[in-house]
Amino acid sequence: MSTYTLDTSTSRAHPTPAPMRRLTVPKLQARKGGEPIVALTAYTTRMAQLLDPHCDLLLVGDSLGQVIYGLPSTVPVSLDMMCAHGAAVVRGSWHAVVAVDMPFGSYEASPAQAFESAARVLKETGAAAVKLEGGEAMAETIAFLIRRGIPVIGHVGLTPQAVNTLGGYGARGGDREEAGHILADARAIAAAGCFAIVVENVVEELAVELTRAVSCPTIGIGASAQCDGQIVVTEDMLGLFERTPRFVRRHDDLASRIGDTAATYAAEVRSRAFPGEAEIYRTGK
Ligand code: KIV
Repeated sequence: MSTYTLDTSTSRAHPTPAPMRRLTVPKLQARKGGEPIVALTAYTTRMAQLLDPHCDLLLVGDSLGQVIYGLPSTVPVSLDMMCAHGAAVVRGSWHAVVAVDMPFGSYEASPAQAFESAARVLKETGAAAVKLEGGEAMAETIAFLIRRGIPVIGHVGLTPQAVNTLGGYGARGGDREEAGHILADARAIAAAGCFAIVVENVVEELAVELTRAVSCPTIGIGASAQCDGQIVVTEDMLGLFERTPRFVRRHDDLASRIGDTAATYAAEVRSRAFPGEAEIYRTGK
């Protein structure tokens, strides 16, 4: 197990004694069928510092719309938000590949629009890759980006940016026809050159079939343990919200622990038990 020192001037976590080189996109791509890829979402420097030693991939997901900004969906998320949070996560990490979500409206119009947005993301954040949602319809754009030096993670199955056409966040691929479309989507974007594909909230058999059908790693979220890696929204895993998706295992109950801590603090303030400067100076506590 490595130890880390925190450089407070840059907020970077440095491994002790020697810096390790960051994982690369080709190294992650080569994990197909091998050691599972550990991925989590991160939106802030401090969270990146805490997660990075344990992860192969940190995704600055557009789920930050709901998690950080209290928005009703990922649809209103902007490129400015993604760039600001992407840069924060890169500053807080040294080991994992950092990928940033392309927000709704920043890439769908044309390959040229996608290139302009994705190039801005890589320049302003220092991230190594972008992720975008969609299947066959996005294959040309994905190939365009990759030929121009921008690694891309695809995203099929439940694609939250399409909530208005899907009509909700339910599991996808339940009937053979829809499963066939999702499989065709995954094949098309894998052939276009994605180095990994997120497979979200699809029935297990489809996730297994899809993982066998494509040559790049699949990263499941509510899909199957047979995917080549797994990702969840970190705040869901930590139990920061009362409601979490059905497929998320809550490893903690951070919401009630934060509430309890805030209540303790509030009680101290109200009972004037809060130490002042003079008291800290006098007692050293
Ligand atoms: O936006 C996000 O956080 C994601 C992951 C849940 C895969 O796309």
